[in-house]
Amino acid sequence: MKFICVTLLIISGIADSRADNFDVVGPAVPLMAVSGEDVILPCSVKPSISAVNMRVEWSRLDQRGSVVHLYEDHEDRNTDQLPSYRGRTRLFKDELENGNTSLKLSRVQTSDEGIYKCFVQSESWYDDTTAAVRVEAVGSAPVITVDGFDGSGGLHLQCESKGWNPEPDLVWLDSEGVTLTSESTDTHRDDTDGFSVKHAITVYNSDTKYHCRVKLRHHMLETEIIISSKMFNSRKTLMILNSVAVVLSVIAGILIAVFFHKKIGNIFIIRSCASLRLLLQNTQMWLDRSKS
Ligand SMILES: *[C@@H]1O[C@H](CO)[C@@H](O)[C@H](O)[C@H]1NC(C)=O
Repeated sequence: MKFICVTLLIISGIADSRADNFDVVGPAVPLMAVSGEDVILPCSVKPSISAVNMRVEWSRLDQRGSVVHLYEDHEDRNTDQLPSYRGRTRLFKDELENGNTSLKLSRVQTSDEGIYKCFVQSESWYDDTTAAVRVEAVGSAPVITVDGFDGSGGLHLQCESKGWNPEPDLVWLDSEGVTLTSESTDTHRDDTDGFSVKHAITVYNSDTKYHCRVKLRHHMLETEIIISSKMFNSRKTLMILNSVAVVLSVIAGILIAVFFHKKIGNIFIIRSCASLRLLLQNTQMWLDRSKS
């Protein structure tokens, strides 16, 4: 009798834990989030049993499992949460009883891009799933800097745009919309601010419009600059003035050289005269002495 009871208990125990089994399911495809907007990271328990009494932990799999949001003992416990998520995460408390453990992430940042783990644990069972999140960020309007003339009279132009994710395409175009080849390109990625791109070109034509265009999928930002002929003219005037200055200084140099040369010559003549006089004096003295 005792044996039968124990067996029954064991069997019912197994049946019980079987009944407690569940799967945790998440999104099948990576989630696209837009910087500054809110996103829901789907996660739910299947079959739909209540998760109210369970532990729900959202973490970053690509950041050594750092905690994004923790629900345990019927409340949120976010003391060990990653600081960048502070005040931006929440579970749908009314949905927990339906087994819905989705996470709402508010005011998405570029640094939110990564792999998330949704871990759900009951007293007798646990399972987890992962969700990849990509963040799309539209950066700032491109800024054009006029960087001065080079030795050959070309004008350096630089275009920079910041805060994109993923990396955007930057192109320089002339007034006809023809793509110009950039001489130098510089891209760098900041964990919080996303991608910055910078391209430089040298132009030789005045009275022309140049466009700098930054594109990411269906987002496009553009800035244009008009190079007036005055700029190149003032450059020419400057170059002419420069040449005149060079010619003048060469002439001045020659004059100074001639002047000094003459002066040196004079000194030499004076010295020579002095020596001659000394010689004459000495000769005179010698003559006088020999006379007396
Ligand atoms: C979970 O709840 C959220 C918020 O109400 C909802 O948007 C989402 O569709 C729910 N997920 C499932 C699987 O029911």
